[in-house]
Amino acid sequence: MKIAVIGGDGTGPEVAAEGLKALAAAAKKVGFKYDTREFDITGERYLRSGGDPTKASISVIGDDEIAQLKTFDAIYLGAVGHPKIAPGILEKGVLLRLRFELDQYINLRPVRLYPNVECPLKGKTVSDIDFVVVRENTEGIYTGMGGVQYKGTPQEVSTQINCTTRFGAERAIRYAFEFCRRRNNPRKRLTLVHKTNVLTFAGDTWFRAFHEVGREYPEIEKDYNHVDACCMWFIKNPEHYDVIVTDNIFGDIITDLAAMIQGGLGVAAGGNINPKGVSMYEPMGGSAPKYAGQNVINPLAAIGAMGMLLRETGHNSGDAKLIDAGERVERAIIATTPKMASQAAGKMGFGTREIGDRVAAAIAAG
Ligand code: IPM
Ligand code: MN
Repeated sequence: MKIAVIGGDGTGPEVAAEGLKALAAAAKKVGFKYDTREFDITGERYLRSGGDPTKASISVIGDDEIAQLKTFDAIYLGAVGHPKIAPGILEKGVLLRLRFELDQYINLRPVRLYPNVECPLKGKTVSDIDFVVVRENTEGIYTGMGGVQYKGTPQEVSTQINCTTRFGAERAIRYAFEFCRRRNNPRKRLTLVHKTNVLTFAGDTWFRAFHEVGREYPEIEKDYNHVDACCMWFIKNPEHYDVIVTDNIFGDIITDLAAMIQGGLGVAAGGNINPKGVSMYEPMGGSAPKYAGQNVINPLAAIGAMGMLLRETGHNSGDAKLIDAGERVERAIIATTPKMASQAAGKMGFGTREIGDRVAAAIAAG
């Protein structure tokens, strides 16, 4: 297996290093070979190359790098974000560009409360918070369609088009039904989250696609929530959810809320997936520049992202060893959280590297 590693800025390289430790331990345990190659795709390089920190003046990733990344089996990303660079430049230049160019049309976000991780919801335990959000990742308001007219005048008008295609909704929905079918959870319920009462065009496209595709999955319960109600239920009864499928912006918002109920950004991992192409896995937290280089940041989200990378790459390529390796990484995280004092940076009771060592040791022992 060939993995491209983009450590990125801030704490990104530190947490990615711990994920790579878990990879090494899992490869040894299960018995598979892999290669990694580091790509210097960073805000640091953008500035060094003369990039304007206030607006995108040069590309953050070269076209040659995009072409090279397409030849890997998966991409492992540490963090995107630089305190000296205006918001949007790196997000658009790295994350969104890769999602679109590699057609990573699924954003997969498992939401799982690990043992001993503090949950802000009173009375909720590990069995109550265990669901997965399948977010459509290439359409909706993320396409950049729209524009501004009469800018800077009192008559200024801007539009940001919610580009929804049957093709895009359907492939996300189909992926979600398949994911629900293979997920080891007796609930077998897929919830569509949208806003059909107001977004009567886009919502209707999603709703009909959901029920039409759903006929092929009679064993899965079809459920629907408006996005605002979904936010309420995340807090009131998260145990209702098994798998959720939703559009790009709704998925963006509800997965940050979900990250909080699973114990924060220290543990939340995600994947930008093209099931037949090159997918990219990442911890959900940012580059946390104030913690960089201090061995205090929580690497579990990055380690979890490596577990996902192994499991999902294994699933998409039919490689049982990789699936096994991914599950072992996940189990090693579950063996590690009970010993931690907290999931917050600097309060874990261990350093970044020590947590990585513990997970690697648990993989070796498991
Ligand atoms: C995410 C992030 C991105 C998004 C940003 C950084 C462009 O918030 O991965 O959820 O909005 O998708
Ligand atoms: Mn987001």
